[in-house]
Amino acid sequence: MQSFEQLSLAFNETFNTHHFPAEPASLYTPNNYFLQLGGKRVRPVLCLMGNELFNEISKDAWEVARAIELFHNFTLIHDDIMDKAPLRRGMQTVHQKFGDSTALLAGDVMLVVAYDYLNKIETVYLRRIIHLFNKTAREVCEGQQLDMDFEKMDAVDFASYENMISLKTSVLLAASLQLGAILGGAMERSQNLLYEFGRKLGLAFQVQDDYLDAFGDAAKFGKQIGGDIRANKKTFLLIHAMETASPAHKEKLKQLLRDESDAKVDEVLTIFRDCKVDRWAEALKENYLAQALAHLDDVAVVSKRKEPLKELAAFLIQRQH
Ligand code: IPE
Ligand code: IPE
Ligand code: MG
Ligand code: MG
Ligand code: MG
Repeated sequence: MQSFEQLSLAFNETFNTHHFPAEPASLYTPNNYFLQLGGKRVRPVLCLMGNELFNEISKDAWEVARAIELFHNFTLIHDDIMDKAPLRRGMQTVHQKFGDSTALLAGDVMLVVAYDYLNKIETVYLRRIIHLFNKTAREVCEGQQLDMDFEKMDAVDFASYENMISLKTSVLLAASLQLGAILGGAMERSQNLLYEFGRKLGLAFQVQDDYLDAFGDAAKFGKQIGGDIRANKKTFLLIHAMETASPAHKEKLKQLLRDESDAKVDEVLTIFRDCKVDRWAEALKENYLAQALAHLDDVAVVSKRKEPLKELAAFLIQRQH
C-alpha cells in the first residue's frame, strides 16, 4: 500500500506530459500554464487508493485518475471566472492572465480531453464508470449554481450549505474513490461505503477550504484571502456568525452583506473571530471525520490496507494549502 506522498509523486510523473497539441497556442498555452502550477492531486490519488485497496493498481485506474484530475482542473478554471478570483496555486488565474473568453474555452477543451482518457479504459465496467463520472459532473454543476444563487440571498441555513458543498466538492472526492474501487473489482457494498467515506471527508475538506479563505496564510493557501467575504459567499463561517452573533453584530453583518466594497473584509473577519468560528470549524471537521472513518471501518478489507486513506484524511482536514 502506498502513501499519499508516493502516489502523488507517481501520478505527477505520468501526468506531467503533453495533454494538448501545440496549436493554436492561444488556446492550449493557458491550459499548460495552469496544469504546470501543480495542485495537491488529491482526487487522482483517491482514485488510485480506492483501486489499490482491492487490488494492484491497474492501467485503467491510471487513465481514470488522469481524467479526474483534468476534470477537476476544468472546474477550477471555470470556478475562478465565476468567483472573480485573481489568484490560484500562488499564481494568476487563467481568466486573469488570458481573459474570460479564453479561460472558458480552455476549460471546455480540458473537459473534452478528460473524456479522451476515460475512453482509453478497457474494462467491463466502462458503462458504470461513465455513468458515475457523468452523474458526478452534473452534481458539481448543480452545486456551483447553488453556490452562486446563495450569494444573492440574505440568509442560508446550515442544511442548505451542507447540501451545496456536498454537490460542488464532496461528490468528486467520493466518486474518485468509488471509481477506483469499481476498477478494483470491489463489491457494491464496499464501493458505497467508500463513497460515503469520501463524501463526509469532502464536507470536512470544504469546511477547511472556507476557513482558510478567511483565515489562511495567502502565501501557503495560494488564493486571495477574503475572496468569499467579498463575494458574499454563504460559508459556514457566515452562517455560524449569523446564528451566534450579538444583535448589534448581526445588524452589522447584514449591512456589510449589502456593501460592495473590499473594505468590509476586515470588519467581517473581526465579527467571525468574535463568534469563535475557529472552534466551530474544528468541531465540524471532527464530526465529519468521525462519520467518514466509521464508513471506512466497515469496508470489508483488512484494516492495515486502509492506513493510507486514514492518513490522507487527517492531512486534508488540517491542510494549510
Ligand atoms: C480546490 O481544490 C477546490 C475545492 C473544492 C476547495 P483543491 O484544494 O484540491 O485544489 P488543488 O488542485 O490542490 O489546487
Ligand atoms: C470550489 O469551491 C468548488 C469547485 C471548484 C467545483 P470554491 O470556490 O470554494 O473553491 P476555491 O476556493 O476557489 O478553490
Ligand atoms: Mg472559488
Ligand atoms: Mg466557487
Ligand atoms: Mg474556497
